[in-house]
Amino acid sequence: MRLVSIEMLKPEMRIARAVYNQGALVLPAGRSGVDKYITNLRNMGVDYVYVEDDKSAGIEIPDAIAERTRTSCKQILQNTMQQFSISDKLETKGLEDCVNTVISEILNSPDIQVSLNDIASNDEYTYTHSVSTMVYALMIARKLNYSEQKLVVLGMGTLLHDIGKMLIDKEVMFKEGKLTKQEYEYVKMHTLYGYQALRRITVLPEQVRQIAYLHHERLDGSGYPQGLSGPDLNEMIRIVSIADVYDALTTDRCYRKRWPANKAMDYLLERSEKEFDPVLVGLFTQQLAVYPNGSMVRLSNQCIGIVARQNRSMPLRPVIRIIMDSNGTEIEPYELDMMETLSVTIIESELEIIKTKRPVSPDEL
Ligand SMILES: [Fe+2]
Repeated sequence: MRLVSIEMLKPEMRIARAVYNQGALVLPAGRSGVDKYITNLRNMGVDYVYVEDDKSAGIEIPDAIAERTRTSCKQILQNTMQQFSISDKLETKGLEDCVNTVISEILNSPDIQVSLNDIASNDEYTYTHSVSTMVYALMIARKLNYSEQKLVVLGMGTLLHDIGKMLIDKEVMFKEGKLTKQEYEYVKMHTLYGYQALRRITVLPEQVRQIAYLHHERLDGSGYPQGLSGPDLNEMIRIVSIADVYDALTTDRCYRKRWPANKAMDYLLERSEKEFDPVLVGLFTQQLAVYPNGSMVRLSNQCIGIVARQNRSMPLRPVIRIIMDSNGTEIEPYELDMMETLSVTIIESELEIIKTKRPVSPDEL
């Protein structure tokens, strides 16, 4: 399996992970002849898809939870949120079931270096992002040996952290260009709106509401809505702020392309101590692949290849399946273990992804 930009789709490629839009299945896994769908995918705001082809045969892209679990969590969250926006009633039972399933999968999964970023169409973004952020937050928490009860609170809070976005005007939420100062101030209100909405759901623990309210706060006081700093931000808030930013950066948005994993990890590491808890950033990044399986890289010898496997002891030196020589000519693929060929380094990662539409401002996370 590998991740390709939709412009790269070729007739011989088959969809490896299903694509959904507005809760409906658009392209099932296994579908071939996918180059015909490029325009449709672009119109939905999907820029990348996971595919199977001969070049990537046998490459596995590890995820922390099963694909069917992700899909059903997104669906339940979408139904629950939509029902909530109509009736003001939040059906928490379905959400709790999702959280419990994800917790048991994460606690029982081997300690792998996660490579997979879920793909979202514009309409699905909030649901996809909420589920992915929950997975990342729980991955950090498992390293802290949280009790089952604390994991459930953290999971529920993360799943609902952006519920306030349901109350933000869609035209502003999905605007393609840069937000005006006024629009940005308005979008920031999703924290308060989320808190107020969740206050009406009396069965939820206060910590769940606090996560919705404070997940954009930063240790140095530079966040919002209150500008709180270190001592006022408890561990769960610190965890969610890291998970939220990492997923936002590594997912396509209507106004910019996703960042490669290594660049998003650098962003967190550069800001740890100041904005993010350095211990938690460390616990998180050690569980992620710096160069994810299935992504294309350029090596210092100018050859281009697909990341095939990780070398756990040397995260910067995975095994690469070389598919193009230094002249850019396609060749019979062969594997190069970077741990054994130390003269070669990776000079460009996630090749098709790094060209951003424009630089992202941290404000827009
Ligand atoms: Fe948010």
